[in-house]
Amino acid sequence: METTDRIPMTLPRLAEMKLNAEPAVMVTAYDYPSAEVAEAAGVDLVLVGDTAAMTVLGHSSTTPVSVDEMLVLAKAVRRGLRTPLLVGDLPFGSYELSNEQAIATAMRFVKEASCDVVKLERGGASVERARAVVDAGIPVMGHVGLTPQTATALGGFRTQGRTADSAVRIAAEAHALQAAGCFAIVFEAVPAAISEVLVPTLSIPVIGIGAGPATDGQVLVWHDLLGIYGGHTPKFVKRYAELRGEMIEAVGEYTREVRERAFPGPEHSYSIDPEELETFRRYLEHDARSPESSFGGDWSATEI
Ligand code: KIV
Repeated sequence: METTDRIPMTLPRLAEMKLNAEPAVMVTAYDYPSAEVAEAAGVDLVLVGDTAAMTVLGHSSTTPVSVDEMLVLAKAVRRGLRTPLLVGDLPFGSYELSNEQAIATAMRFVKEASCDVVKLERGGASVERARAVVDAGIPVMGHVGLTPQTATALGGFRTQGRTADSAVRIAAEAHALQAAGCFAIVFEAVPAAISEVLVPTLSIPVIGIGAGPATDGQVLVWHDLLGIYGGHTPKFVKRYAELRGEMIEAVGEYTREVRERAFPGPEHSYSIDPEELETFRRYLEHDARSPESSFGGDWSATEI
């Protein structure tokens, strides 16, 4: 469907997609050109994820990114989107302290960056935070399984739900988030077989990343999907392009051409009327440097 024909994604439409077993497509994005590409490609949801801390800001985990940094990115993404639902990711430390803190941060994402909805991580205390934000009128997406903001407490970046106990915890968290009013949940790094049995027990859409094909939708991190990120690539990532290699090749070619004076060519240069050029040449050769010139031969006095 042409992007001009598409109608903006809504929460009822997303719920209907689950009922119709239509997979929802989510990607992360962190800037205007990426948002424009996501719009043109016809994705359903765009997440301004706190993975920006790693993919865009160069940190080694997601925890350092601040609300102000996330808002700069979310505003840029908003400018490039028309139809996908825009999800703002509440960064670590911006919602855990109290319901008031969670509501205030969520409101900034909606008021300042025009996000449609927000996402927060974990069960536990986050369930109460999710309920408070939903009660304040802002839809919330949950996130269970591997929750990168608290990966250290989980023993590192590792698959969750590989034991019955761990799977029970994921199920309990997912159901608690659903009961708190979340409109959807991300399952990250969860065995495919756990998704297969757990997803049908939930009435809200589950968007998976490393959670197998049985979820109601999929999300991939922009830089992973396009092969832009040079760091570690988790097993669940499929790279649909190798742009990093192409980018290095392109910038390398530019570097060579500048050094060899092969760029810019005539096709990249502006022209001037030959008579004007000749007048200018004469000026340079005689007038400007002569002591009688109004500039007295002093270039620094030339008005520009
Ligand atoms: O921040 C992020 O990009 C995410 C996705 C991995 C779901 O939370």
